[in-house]
Amino acid sequence: MTRIFSGIKPTGHLTLGNYLGAVRRWVEVDQHRADALFCVVDLHALTVDHDPGRVRRLSRQAATLLLAAGLDPGRCTVFVQSHVDEHARLSYLMECTATDGEMRRMIQYKEKAAREQQRGGSVRLSLLTYPALMAADILAYQADEVPVGDDQTQHVELARDLAVRFNQRYGHAFTVPRAVRPQVAARVMDLQDPASKMGKSHAATAGIVYLLDEPDVIRRKVMRAVTDSGSEVAYEPDTRPGVANLLDILAACTGSSPEELAEGYDSYGALKKDTAEAVVEVLRPLRERHGELCADPGQVDRVLREGAERARALARPTVDAAYSAIGLLPAL
Ligand code: TYM
Repeated sequence: MTRIFSGIKPTGHLTLGNYLGAVRRWVEVDQHRADALFCVVDLHALTVDHDPGRVRRLSRQAATLLLAAGLDPGRCTVFVQSHVDEHARLSYLMECTATDGEMRRMIQYKEKAAREQQRGGSVRLSLLTYPALMAADILAYQADEVPVGDDQTQHVELARDLAVRFNQRYGHAFTVPRAVRPQVAARVMDLQDPASKMGKSHAATAGIVYLLDEPDVIRRKVMRAVTDSGSEVAYEPDTRPGVANLLDILAACTGSSPEELAEGYDSYGALKKDTAEAVVEVLRPLRERHGELCADPGQVDRVLREGAERARALARPTVDAAYSAIGLLPAL
């Protein structure tokens, strides 16, 4: 059976980009067709300046939202990364497999390191080695497929390279994974700045729709979205990114294509109104279910406990075998 692994980082409240680019597919497709594991990757949240209490709260919130979005613990495994030691154990072997140059070439590293430096902060070493931990997440489970949005495909490519290299040098230890990206909304852009990705860690929040935003807040954010000069609605992502982003969002919410949708509109106002309502409707059940789950925290605890147990049982033999293959003396 196909094995799927994917993760989400608790560095901020989850956004519409996380949902349309990744989580929705996990819920609607992946958990039904494969042995799928979905992980709140809290260790990754420590790679940038962080507040301990906030990371803990956001980890719990992310797990609750994944369940609220429809991940069914009867069908898939939901767990928290730090509950399974194998991630950190294997990450070190990945650091011993990757090169410094490979890590420094990662676009996310360059962007995030530049942002930290601009703010006068220092860059944590773990930000550089982030892709080694991410490769460990994926390879520990022998994952075949990794469903992610566009921004993560370079990291998955590196995980692939590391799997191949490790297997060649030390004998077959890992399945070589591949990234799977959604057809629409693989890169949802910020509503106020359509040149940059809608990201949960951004400081300016007016262009970001959060999964738990109230309907009126969502309407306001979408109605105030930056559009391009001109008034004709056309799908031209390169030259008219603001309108293209709204069309992508509407297409992802309604299951249609952005090009076809563009033909049905003659004003930006009407497009924004329909997009706002479509987003409100897509997120409504999720918000309601989130409220129910918060009222029953024991349920989330149980899911995470059982998820971690299953994840550990799956990862341990692979990581033990990799330790042995690379030349470490097995514990006696
Ligand atoms: P993270 O937490 O930034 O995002 C989680 C998922 O949401 C997707 N995504 C988007 N898709 C479309 N448009 C957007 N604006 C948008 N923003 C985020 C991401 O592509 C991702 O699929 N490094 C990962 C977490 C991770 C991981 C892993 C993923 C750690 N280990 C192993 C897969 C496998 C990250 O920071 O995702």
